[in-house]
Amino acid sequence: MDTVVALLYLIASILFIFGLKMLTRVKTARRGNWLSSSAMFLAILATLLDMGVVDYTFIIAGVLIGGVIGAVLALRVQMTAMPEMVAIFNGFGGGASALVACSVLFRDAVGKDGALPALLGGMDTSVSLLVSVLIGCLTFTGSLIAFGKLRGFISGQPIILPGNHVINLLLGLTVVAASVYLLVSASTPDPVFWGAVVVIAVSLLLGILLVIPIGGADMPVVISLLNSYSGLAAASAGFVLQNNVLIISGALVGASGLILTQIMCKAMNRSLANVLFGGFGQESAAGGGGKKDDAYPTVKSCGPEEAAMILESARDVIIVPGYGLAVAQAQHVVKDMADQLIKNGAQVRYAIHPVAGRMPGHMNVLLAESKVPYDQLFDLDQINDAFQNADAALVVGANDVVNPAAEKEPDSPIYGMPVLKVWDAKTVFVVKRSLSAGFAAIPNDLFNYDNNLMLFGDAKKILTELNAELKEALG
Ligand code: TAP
Repeated sequence: MDTVVALLYLIASILFIFGLKMLTRVKTARRGNWLSSSAMFLAILATLLDMGVVDYTFIIAGVLIGGVIGAVLALRVQMTAMPEMVAIFNGFGGGASALVACSVLFRDAVGKDGALPALLGGMDTSVSLLVSVLIGCLTFTGSLIAFGKLRGFISGQPIILPGNHVINLLLGLTVVAASVYLLVSASTPDPVFWGAVVVIAVSLLLGILLVIPIGGADMPVVISLLNSYSGLAAASAGFVLQNNVLIISGALVGASGLILTQIMCKAMNRSLANVLFGGFGQESAAGGGGKKDDAYPTVKSCGPEEAAMILESARDVIIVPGYGLAVAQAQHVVKDMADQLIKNGAQVRYAIHPVAGRMPGHMNVLLAESKVPYDQLFDLDQINDAFQNADAALVVGANDVVNPAAEKEPDSPIYGMPVLKVWDAKTVFVVKRSLSAGFAAIPNDLFNYDNNLMLFGDAKKILTELNAELKEALG
C-alpha cells in the first residue's frame, strides 16, 4: 500500500507542476485546470489510503457538504466577484492548515509535560507546526477582512488605526516570544496551553490588523499575497504530517502566489512594502473618488451614430477592455463589433493591460469566452507604440489603465504605473456610464483631451447600439 500511495503522490505532484505550467498560457489554461483538478483528486485519494482512516463518516459528510457549497459557489459566481471568491478560498485554505497544525498541537503537546520538540519528536516538526499555526491563522482572518472589503461589508478604503505599525510590530514580537517559549522552556502542562493560546489568538489578530490598513487598488495584490501565505501554511502542515504532496503543492502555491504578487506590483509600479504599509487610496478616498464633474471642464461626448461614422472609415482600431466590460458582460458584443470592422477591411487589435479588470488574466478569460482569436490580443509592451498610428482607440469600461496621470502627474498616486497610451490615437472613444473614477479612485484627465469622446452608458447597451449603426452603415 505504501508504494501505491507514494506513486499516487508522485503522479499528483507531477500533474500539479504541469497543470500550473499550462495555466500560464491562455490556450492551455483549461487543460491545465483540468490536469490540476485531477491531481487534487489523486492526492485526496492517496491521503485517504495513507492516513489509516478508521471511520469515513465525517470525511464523507465533509466532502459532500464542502463539495456542494463549492460547486454552487463556482457555478453562481460572477467573473467580477472572482477576487472575493479567491480571497475566501485562501482564507479557508489557511484556516484548514491552521486547524491541522492546532489539532496536532493539542493532541500531542497541550496538557503534557515538556517543551514542544520533546513532545512532537523534533525541533523541525515543532517549528513547522508553529509556522503553520501562525501563517494559517493570519491568512484566515486576513482573507476574511479582504473578502469583507471587496464585498462591501466593511469599508474598501484603507483604515489606518493610530500606531498601527507599532501595534503590529509588538504583536509580531509577542508571537515570536511565545513560540520561542514553547520551543525551549515550557515545562509544565498549563504554560504549553497558554503559550499555544497566545500564538493562535495573536496570529488571528495580526491577520486583521495587517489587512485592514490596505485598500483601494491594492486589494488584489494582498489577495495574491494571502494566496501565497496559504500555500506556505499548507507546506508547513505537510512537514508536520510528513506528507510529501502537501509540501510540494503548498510550495507551488506559495511560490506562484509570490510571483503573481510581484507581477502585479510591477504592473502598478509599486513596491510590496509600499502596498503593505503605504495606505494607498486613503488620500483619494478623502478627496472623493465618485463624480468629479468639476474636474472635467472640456469633456465631450457623442452618441453611437457619430462613433459609427468615425469607426466606419477607420483602418486601424485598438480596443482596450477594462473592468466595466466585465461588469456589463459586453465581451460578445465587442467581438461582434470587431468582426464587423474587420469585414470592413480594418485591422482590429485588443490591448490588454496586465492589471485591467480585477484579477490577473481577467480580460483574457472574458475575450476567450467570446472566442476572440488569440493573435488579436496584445500585451501592453507589444501594443503601446501602435496607438500613434491607430485611427481609433475604443476604451470599453477601462479607466485607471488608460489614465495619463500615470505618465504626466508626479503627484498622482498611480504615477509611474505603466499605462496604455490611448491618447496617441487619432480619436479615442471611452465607453462608460459616467465620469466616475475607477478602482484607484482618482480623476482621469484623458476625458478632457481634445481627441477624446465619451460614449456614456452601459457598455453592452452602447456597443449593441453601435453595432446596429455599423451594420446599417456597412450594409
Ligand atoms: P477601473 O479603473 O476600475 O475602471 C473601470 C470603469 O468601468 C469605471 O470607471 C466604471 O465607470 C466603468 N464601468 C463599470 N461598470 C460599467 C458598465 N456596466 N458599463 C460601462 N462601464 C462600466 O478598471 P481598469 O481600467 O480595468 O483598471 C483596473 C484597476 O484595478 C486598476 O486600478 C488596477 O490597478 C486595479 N487592480 C487590478 C488588478 C488585476 S490583477 N486586474 C490587481 C490589482 C489592482 P462608470 O462607473 O462611470 O461606468
